Amino acid sequence: MKICVIPGDGIGPEVLDAATTVLRALDPSVDLVSAEAGWATFQRHGTALPDVTLAAARAADAVLFGAVASPSHAVPGYRSPIVQLRRDLDLYANLRPTVGQHGPVNLVIVRENTEGLYAGRERLEDGGDTAIAERVITRRASARIARAAFELARRRAAELGRPGRVTIVHKANVLRISDGLFRETALAVAGDYPEVAVDELLVDVAAMRLAQAPERFDVLVTTNLFGDILSDVACIHGGGLGLAASANLGEGRALFEPVHGAAPDIAGRGVANPLAAITCVAMLLAWRGATAPAARLRAAIAAVLRAGPHTPDLGGSATTADVTAAILTQLRGAAPPSA
Ligand code: NAI
Ligand code: MG
Repeated sequence: MKICVIPGDGIGPEVLDAATTVLRALDPSVDLVSAEAGWATFQRHGTALPDVTLAAARAADAVLFGAVASPSHAVPGYRSPIVQLRRDLDLYANLRPTVGQHGPVNLVIVRENTEGLYAGRERLEDGGDTAIAERVITRRASARIARAAFELARRRAAELGRPGRVTIVHKANVLRISDGLFRETALAVAGDYPEVAVDELLVDVAAMRLAQAPERFDVLVTTNLFGDILSDVACIHGGGLGLAASANLGEGRALFEPVHGAAPDIAGRGVANPLAAITCVAMLLAWRGATAPAARLRAAIAAVLRAGPHTPDLGGSATTADVTAAILTQLRGAAPPSA
């Protein structure tokens, strides 16, 4: 297994260091190829995603991505490398699971990753007084993201031993043509999965229900911007950003990344929670079909969440290295160190 590792900026290298240590422990023969991207890379080379990095990502079986620090102001020549990687590798399905630590919450947001309002079609008219963003919805992209959602719901139903359900989230009452096409296409795909229940919600109601009653959901499928926003709402129920992991999937390709960013406020102090990045390793192993090591790692993560040690974001005082060591101890089957 050849994995391209892109640590990025800020805490990205700190949490990916933890993740790759854990991956090596589970699969000593793994071939890890490091590549650079991000703000520091841009300052050195004038591009945030060098061609050699893109080539390394393409040549690998999968990519582990840390986080990059993107400026909030426009910088000529700078493009977010993660948005570019998703597009260039055609990683069209962004899977963002949330599992509640203390309750029955177990849901996945399946976000369309290549079009919608993030299609990059923005322009100024009227001499700069009118800004227009085009929202692109295609039948092809809507059908493949819906299929990804129903396939996932079917797999989860088998794993969890209960019926599956997909909730189609849209705003077709206002965006009649674009979300009309998304809704109609997703409902047509639903016809191929009679054993998976289907329902639909308008995005504003979905946001409220996700905040209020997240245990009602199984798989949600939605367009790019809605999925981005709703997944941040959902991650609150899973213990916050330090634990939220995500997969970006295409045909035979995958990139795994924590949902969090470069966290400049804690970078360099060795206290970032590595569990989001380590959960990415479990997702990667499961995607590769290595179900037994993936399950062992999930159990190790659950044990460390239960018994500690915990980093400051979870109320503890442990370091990134302490948590990583505890995961390795769990994997060796020994008693965890006391928190
Ligand atoms: P952020 O996710 O980096 O941090 C938000 C808050 O959560 C901070 O207080 C941070 O300390 C905390 N946090 C995040 N991850 C943590 C972890 N693993 N352990 C403990 N605490 C953690 O988001 P923010 O501050 O809005 O953005 C910082 C930079 O990251 C920006 O330059 C932004 O563009 C970039 N960013 C990059 C992303 C990516 O590479 N995919 C995603 C989001 C933001
Ligand atoms: Mg986001």
